[in-house]
Order: sequence, then structure tokens, then C-alpha cells
Amino acid sequence: MQAVTLEKSPDPVLVLSDVAEPIPGPGDALVRVEAFSLNLGEVRRGYTMAAAGWRPGWDFAGTVEKAAADGSGPKAGTRVVGFLEEGAWAERLAVPVRALAALPDSVTTVQAATLPVAGLTALFALERAGPLVGRRVLVSGASGGVGHFALQLARAGGAHVVAAVRRPELVAEAEADGAHTVVDDATLAAAGAHGPFDVILESVGGAALSNALTMLTRTGVCVTFGNSSRTPAPVDAGRFYLTGRPRLEGLYVLSELRHVPPSEGLGRLGRLVADGRLKPRITLEAPWTDIERVARALVDRQVAGKAVLRVS
Ligand SMILES: NC(=O)c1ccc[n+]([C@@H]2O[C@H](COP(=O)([O-])OP(=O)(O)OC[C@H]3O[C@@H](n4cnc5c(N)ncnc54)[C@H](OP(=O)(O)O)[C@@H]3O)[C@@H](O)[C@H]2O)c1
Repeated sequence: MQAVTLEKSPDPVLVLSDVAEPIPGPGDALVRVEAFSLNLGEVRRGYTMAAAGWRPGWDFAGTVEKAAADGSGPKAGTRVVGFLEEGAWAERLAVPVRALAALPDSVTTVQAATLPVAGLTALFALERAGPLVGRRVLVSGASGGVGHFALQLARAGGAHVVAAVRRPELVAEAEADGAHTVVDDATLAAAGAHGPFDVILESVGGAALSNALTMLTRTGVCVTFGNSSRTPAPVDAGRFYLTGRPRLEGLYVLSELRHVPPSEGLGRLGRLVADGRLKPRITLEAPWTDIERVARALVDRQVAGKAVLRVS
């Protein structure tokens, strides 16, 4: 069968290669992958630090070809969404059933493929804040894969939602995703405008994180989970602690998912899509033979929302 692998010749390039068929363990379902989405973290890893032969891939959706031998999990023929720590961009996968959720009929595999890392990161980050009704939430990097889900989930949770974007042409998308107010990064930084916030989801890093730590309410929480700008963030300690009892929390979804079964959150997200309360924004959909072009487009920030590849 084929899978996406990293080739170095000598520059890194993602290609389709022949690999061995997966061998399911007793608690693994055999899944035929129909679509997967790309995330910035795994693509950057491939282009910067992974070794030749590495197989990327966290998110996938498809159909169970063979149920787990121990009788657990979804039956053969069930459409599923799932998550693996690597190697999910392949025709077939052996997947522990804890990492699979059955899909509602109305959710397509292309939609579902967007949910695992981006959707679960947004969900877990917001859950760090507790109930959201009437609370003020700021989402940085709001035009990205995680950001657009965070806007929708925060709005669905009853929050007043402020989105920070850096490209004016993406303001309308952030509004459509549920933001009450959309600000550009520069305005937000200059004025500390629109704060203070009970909850800040921060993934841009650098100045955006520095500023976020000055914009919290007395008991507010900033959840940091990314550093898209790849710059360090100086902290004005006084402005942070003099607020009262604000918190800065880190979130690493791969670590969370070792403790919490992906199936649980993926089931919730799938139902939200089925209900029309969560709408994955897919701005690039292509066959998986285009993997290198699409991965480069993601790194070069030519994708807002999510990119999905179809496996055929
Ligand atoms: N800790 C975790 O478990 C976890 C999980 C998922 C993601 N992440 C990280 O979280 C971040 C967001 O993930 P994603 O999948 O949403 O990525 P994405 O789809 O590539 O979105 C990146 C977002 O950040 C913005 N951005 C990028 N570089 C920027 C810069 N230099 N200054 C200001 N804004 C910038 C982008 O704005 P434009 O649209 O204008 O380019 C976009 O809104 C990434 O850094 C990713 O690695 C971490």
C-alpha cells in the first residue's frame, strides 16, 4: 500500500511511497483512510527536523474495514474519524479503538478529517477556562485551523468572542465563524483594546503572547499552545501578577490524548458538525498525490482554515 513519507534529496519533500501493510493488534481496528487534514506542527516538523523515511499524519477519516479482534470499538463498515501520533497519511491504518469515533451520517469524511488535532486543541483549550457563558474570550491566530474552530466553539458556549487576525481580508471569515469583534494584531497590541479577557487562546507567540499576559481579568486564563511566529515572548511580570490571580497554562494536545481517549472529544465534535453548530472551513481540498504542494501552501500561509487531501 502507499503512504506519505519524507524524502530528503537533499531538501525535504513529502512523497507517496510503498510501505508495509499495517498489522492490527487485538484492540486495533483496520481502517481504510478516505481523507486526512494537515496541521502546521507536523508539516513544519517534516521540513525542519524529521529524518528521511518519517511518516507524518495525525488526522484521518475513513471506514472500518475490519473490527478489532477483541470485539471492542466500531464494527466493519462504520465510518470513523481518528487520530494517531504519526503515520496516519496512508491507505490503511491499524488504529487502537480508543482513537476512533463513529461519524453521524450527515458528516462527510472530508469534513471529519479536519477535526482531530485542530478541533480537539480548540475544545481542550476552551475547557481549561470552565463555563464560557457571558465570558470574554480572545482568540489569536483566529484565521487558522485551530483558531476558526475556537471561534465557533466559544460562540456556541455563550462567550463574547474577539478574534485577532493579521490579514484584513480574513475579517469576514472570522465574523462568519462567530466573532463578535475582529481586531488586527497591531491594533490589539497598541491599545490593549477590547480587553480585559477572561480567556485568551494564544498560538501566535512573540508579541501576541507578551500582550496577552497584560490583557487578562483578575482570575483570567491564557492558554498557550503554539508559537506560529517562532519568536520568544518577553513577559512584563509586574503587569501580569499585579492583575490578581491570572494564570498562564500550556496545552499540548498529543500529551492530553495519551490520558484522554480521542474518541470522546471526536464524538462530541462530530455531533456538533452534524447539528450544524460547527462548520469546518475547508479552503483547500485536493487528491493526496498533491501532498507536497499542499504542505508547502500550508507552511507558506496560503491556507486559511483547513486543507484536506482525499486518499484514492
Ligand atoms: N500545542 C498543541 O497541541 C497544538 C495543537 C495544534 C496546533 N498547535 C500550534 O498552534 C498554532 C496554530 O495551529 P493551526 O493548525 O491553527 O495553524 P495554521 O492553520 O497554520 O494557522 C496559523 C494561524 O496563526 C497565524 N500566524 C501565523 N504566523 C503568524 C505570525 N508570524 N504572526 C501573526 N499570526 C501568525 C495565521 O495567520 P494568517 O492566516 O494570516 O497566516 C493563522 O491564523 C501552530 O503554531 C501550531 O503548531 C499546537
